[in-house]
Amino acid sequence: MSSPISAVSQMLERNQALFVGKRLLVCGALEDDYPRQLATLAQTLTVFTTDYCYYRSQQAALGEAILFDHQLGGAPRFDALLLLMPKAKAEAQYLLAMMTPLLEAGADLFLAGENRGGINGADKLLAPYGDKPIKRDSARRCSLYHGELSKPVASFELDAWFSRYECKAGETELTVLALPGVFSADELDLGSQMLLASLPPMRGKLLDFGCGAGVIGSMLAKRNPDLEVSMVDISALALESSRRTLAVNGLQGKVHASDVYSDIAEKFQHIVSNPPFHAGLKTFYAATETFLAKAPEYLSANGGLTIVANAFLRYQPILDTHFKRTEVVNSDSKFKVYLSKV
Ligand SMILES: C[S@@+](CC[C@H](N)C(=O)[O-])C[C@H]1O[C@@H](n2cnc3c(N)ncnc32)[C@H](O)[C@@H]1O
Repeated sequence: MSSPISAVSQMLERNQALFVGKRLLVCGALEDDYPRQLATLAQTLTVFTTDYCYYRSQQAALGEAILFDHQLGGAPRFDALLLLMPKAKAEAQYLLAMMTPLLEAGADLFLAGENRGGINGADKLLAPYGDKPIKRDSARRCSLYHGELSKPVASFELDAWFSRYECKAGETELTVLALPGVFSADELDLGSQMLLASLPPMRGKLLDFGCGAGVIGSMLAKRNPDLEVSMVDISALALESSRRTLAVNGLQGKVHASDVYSDIAEKFQHIVSNPPFHAGLKTFYAATETFLAKAPEYLSANGGLTIVANAFLRYQPILDTHFKRTEVVNSDSKFKVYLSKV
């Protein structure tokens, strides 16, 4: 039995005659199995994702038709682009700038998404590439826009898309480079700042889980020259940002994709994180629960997990269940830093 598809995909499904016979490139906020259906309609299908979790969920079915990376290059070879509107507008602009050089002149530009996710800004997003798009459909609080690539396209310059800022934790200064949509792309998060202020000198192997632009792992590598730093994230944009942050500061570290612990096969003395959570929800993000619950399996004897969390998130009971002891080592009205020992 196939799993249910999102409201956006249901809207696309009833418009899928638009994709028949196309050399189609699909990217953006992919979240279900619907793109697989397009493989039977389109002449060719390529799905590009920056989300490792989505990549892993579709890889067996799509094989070489799905690519996980921060960038896709090569000669123009597609005649239609379907962009599923990402949460951050800057990420939509990034994806369009990267994908349009891969399209032939006159290619179809489709933009789909939820109305509350900014899809009705499609006119502005597509303005650099062609005339005003038409609204093909609107249903279930989603919309589909259709334009045409009719303006000349500039080649994609990855370096131009990094934001850059300087930050300081204690005496350690760091330059941070971040691609659009990456957490804390413009300034050091206050929670991460408190986490960094709470960590003692460290040695051995350290895992920075959910590294974002790499600020925590890079700061710690700079402060602790004997520390062997690994960084993981689910986002290809975050991973490339972390690599750049390490490089611009002349630091070394291992950076790779992992959905929670999917690609981790070693143990660490330290795991540190400002873990992901869904703002506004009382429930935790399921991935974070798994991250906390399974952390002891990835810590060596006497190893420790140090995390920062919004004070309203109740991590203590989860940590108490899975660790011998947990203490709050720093806190203010907004954040708490927990240190848990195996
Ligand atoms: C709150 S941000 C922290 C980023 C960075 N460490 C900082 O302090 O600025 C959480 C990060 O976790 C990543 N993330 C979300 N789900 C994940 C998962 N299942 N596995 C690995 N990383 C994940 C997000 O992409 C994001 O970069």
